[in-house]
Amino acid sequence: MEEPNKFWKSVAKELHFEKWSDKGLEYNFDHQKGEVFVKFMEGAKTNMAYNCLERNIQKGLGSKIAYIWEGNEPGDQMTITYQELLEQVSKFAEVLRTKGVKKGDVVAIYLPMTIELPIAMLACARIGAIHSVVFAGFSSDALANRIHQAKAKILITADGFYRGHKAIDLKTLADKAFSICHDQGHDIDSVIMVEHLKRIRTPQGAIPPEVKINKKTDSLWNKEMEAASSKNLQTSKIEWNDSEDPLFILYTSGSTGTPKGLVHTTTGYMTYAYEAAKKIFDSKPDDVFWCTADIGWITGHTFGVYGALLNGMTSMLFEGVPNYPDASRMWQLVEKYKVSKLYTSPTAVRSLMDCPTEMVTDYSRDTLKILGVVGEPINRPAWRWLHKVVGGEKCAIVDTYWQTETGGPMLTPLPGATPTKPGSATMPFFGVDPVLVDDQGVAKKGQIDGNLCFARAWPGMARTIWGDHARFIKTYFSTFPGLYFTGDGARRDQDSYYWVGGRVDDKLNVSGHLLSTSEIECVLTHHPTVQEAAVVAAPHPSKGQVPYAFVVLKQSRTLTADLIHEIKQEVRNKIGPFAAPEVVHGACGLPKTRSGKITRRILRIIAEGDHKANLGDTSTLIDEQVIAHLWETRPDVQ
Ligand code: WT7
Repeated sequence: MEEPNKFWKSVAKELHFEKWSDKGLEYNFDHQKGEVFVKFMEGAKTNMAYNCLERNIQKGLGSKIAYIWEGNEPGDQMTITYQELLEQVSKFAEVLRTKGVKKGDVVAIYLPMTIELPIAMLACARIGAIHSVVFAGFSSDALANRIHQAKAKILITADGFYRGHKAIDLKTLADKAFSICHDQGHDIDSVIMVEHLKRIRTPQGAIPPEVKINKKTDSLWNKEMEAASSKNLQTSKIEWNDSEDPLFILYTSGSTGTPKGLVHTTTGYMTYAYEAAKKIFDSKPDDVFWCTADIGWITGHTFGVYGALLNGMTSMLFEGVPNYPDASRMWQLVEKYKVSKLYTSPTAVRSLMDCPTEMVTDYSRDTLKILGVVGEPINRPAWRWLHKVVGGEKCAIVDTYWQTETGGPMLTPLPGATPTKPGSATMPFFGVDPVLVDDQGVAKKGQIDGNLCFARAWPGMARTIWGDHARFIKTYFSTFPGLYFTGDGARRDQDSYYWVGGRVDDKLNVSGHLLSTSEIECVLTHHPTVQEAAVVAAPHPSKGQVPYAFVVLKQSRTLTADLIHEIKQEVRNKIGPFAAPEVVHGACGLPKTRSGKITRRILRIIAEGDHKANLGDTSTLIDEQVIAHLWETRPDVQ
């Protein structure tokens, strides 16, 4: 323990602390020995926003560009320097204070990829408020649930935006979320809305969303900012937060339906994000860093915002999608902005590699040095394409394995230092201690397949689940006492390289977004025609995995095309478009054991369409006929 502690404290020394603490990591992972907890540099006082802004400005980076923003429509663009960002953040911090937001309050943020998103996050950090960013692709129900669970006081949103040709009525979705919250007995005090639509171009054929303003609660971002600028901004005092004060909450899918709000705290997360962005992307002063992940996900938090800013980097904020106006958009942007470090997802790579090679090679990628991927295992052909076609065989590829819970990468190569193997996230990051255990929890050495756990705490890890520490312990520390369990299976090869295979629990990974099957099942079984439902992961050529739903309808109901559409739509509305089942398979029953447990193993084989697969022992099933019937009724494509 001495060594990692020394190391992490030496990293922290590079950041600003108003008050230093010599305490390193303190933790207990074994719930049988007492309360599970993690702390790093307890008692120190610092501020994340100060470290991102003032600290860099004092080093002479005031006029350096912090963000290059590019809109959905090519040509919609702007830049903001570190100094300008500080001014905006200080003003918005005052706006939040005027609205009554205090240290420890939760601020919900539901914004597209616009500059106001990092401004709002940093303003929260500046005053010690806790941000809870909700990805703007989530539905009203999902937003309502997150606002309600975290008891958010205030919401920052925008009127609307476009993704490709599609208009998103963000404010209308937010309004729906409020009425759901209101019905649950939780009212939001105020809403601050960015007027985004009037400053961007409308894609051809799209109809701008109509926006309603509620005079009682809503106010406009620009008006609030103007009012703040007339005040003396010297009053925009920095809140010196304690190391273990929460910095943010970020929700991820839980196995039981309700999402889990992971809580990340100040010093540990800051130190880890700083070091990860610095070492994994070999941060250099003239870099242009582009993390394509939406800030609404942890990758966007750690790399798109905090890691990039802590390192004084110039980074890109892209509001559009990789295939609009056409599939060369990403490479056009790499050329236009001279991107040197690109961090993206295997899904994006897979969806772009099927296009003609010229879509990539027509644009200069000479500035690219490091290509990072995250979110799901990358298959060899995608890895090779990225290396060969995009990187021209001269870029380092970094396949980084981590989770919302871990705050930053856990397994990753260091560019130029770790020899890579396509498909392997290679070796542990500094101070990370991976362990592979069998199902009985016995740690195995050498070349082995097992459940991926971590034996030692690291500064960036989540400290708890908001409002439910018992669930935190149950989810991550009870399967294998004394170890943090990731929920993933992995293999260690003869060179001690790790190969993460995928979830060993009931989660599925759609385009790098983790979803729980039970969360989708819950929506399906609430549908008035559905009696029973089971969702499993089916492989998909570009998205990695997709949900495949088996539904047993109530008596006298038939599964028509309209009903399939309606059922899919229900999931879109309740969770989000990416959660909609690819296939809805009408079943006469589900294979169950005598104790009533659905045998998902069999459903997975049927969903995969693998007729030759060994179904294993089916003798414990109540009704073996069900399997034959499921094969007969398996739909081709929908
Ligand atoms: C799950 C975490 C952290 C960024 C975005 C996802 C899978 C993540 C890899 C990788 C294989 C990966 C795991 C993990 N995963 N990166 N490089 N290779 N699998 O965050 O939504 O919390 O999902 O994504 O299954 O547990 P998340």
